[in-house]
Amino acid sequence: MRVLSVINYKGGVGKTTLTANLASELAFQGNKVLIVDLDPQTNLTFSFLMVDEWEQNYQDRTIKKWYDAFIDNDQDFNLNGLILTPQRVNSRLRVLKSEGQVDLISSHLGLIDVDLELSAKLWGGSERTNRRNFLIVHSRLKAGLQQLEDKGYDCVIIDCPPNFSVVTKTAIVASDSVLIPAKPDYLSTIGIEQLQKRIGELVSEYNSKLQHDNNRDEFNPISPSVKGVIFTMLGIRNGQPYSALQQYISQVQRIGISTLTTTIRENKTVYATAPESGIPVVLEDVRNEQTYLTVRKELEQLTAEVIKLVLS
Ligand SMILES: Nc1ncnc2c1ncn2[C@@H]1O[C@H](COP(=O)(O)OP(=O)(O)O)[C@@H](O)[C@H]1O
Ligand SMILES: [Mg+2]
Repeated sequence: MRVLSVINYKGGVGKTTLTANLASELAFQGNKVLIVDLDPQTNLTFSFLMVDEWEQNYQDRTIKKWYDAFIDNDQDFNLNGLILTPQRVNSRLRVLKSEGQVDLISSHLGLIDVDLELSAKLWGGSERTNRRNFLIVHSRLKAGLQQLEDKGYDCVIIDCPPNFSVVTKTAIVASDSVLIPAKPDYLSTIGIEQLQKRIGELVSEYNSKLQHDNNRDEFNPISPSVKGVIFTMLGIRNGQPYSALQQYISQVQRIGISTLTTTIRENKTVYATAPESGIPVVLEDVRNEQTYLTVRKELEQLTAEVIKLVLS
């Protein structure tokens, strides 16, 4: 079971859209995929569920519960109880004769408060207690996902919030790989350098705390691998990207991060309707328009690249 985080602390760069489409295409190809919405803005959740449906059936079964159980010292709670199987995308998979599946752990607006409470857990004890608390808090999601080992997931994809909060850090600690969607512009590339630095610092801090005391039996060193930047929302004119894409690719590579070969073009019309349909663009009932097919081809190409980078 591979765990991939989709992360960037800028909002509106396509994290959620890519997560939804990547998961759906992987499922279409026969994989059993779990997606985890860690963003209190809940956009991924409502890309697959209708608001009414969530309010009536699921709002007490969100990822917030997993962190709450920890804050309340409820040892018996299992992450398994939070997994939902969104109906619309999975029906679509059956229509397409796919044997894959998309499951979801949904998010909750109240996840914002969880972050403060988790932070509070990190301080106030002896140095040794604080070190231990750091490891327990940050490995919270990793521990939860380990409970799912026998569920047969090929892949878990975590859609991160646009910040570097404790909850985001739990995603990084839980991950084998990290993917960074970004727009090709100057400020975004600066942001990527910061992000890379902070991921590195978190990994060092976690592994160094683990060296102390007798924590090594209980926790393992982490080494999430930043697989690269995927450029999204490219403006296209006459079939060609009109921003100076090559310049941003070079800038990212200078920082020491790879860039994916696939790029995702901007297309407001095609991407706007998908969240309400509950079926991401890549699996939507084909409208046989050229732009639609072009968009879809990019998403399929992205999936192929991610399979190579992350799953094989
Ligand atoms: N390639 C694209 N072209 C046009 N609009 C897009 C594209 N990708 C995403 N969007 C739209 O942009 C907005 C932000 O995307 P989203 O995936 O939610 O970003 P993030 O999760 O990084 O905040 C959403 O309204 C989404 O529908
Ligand atoms: Mg998002």
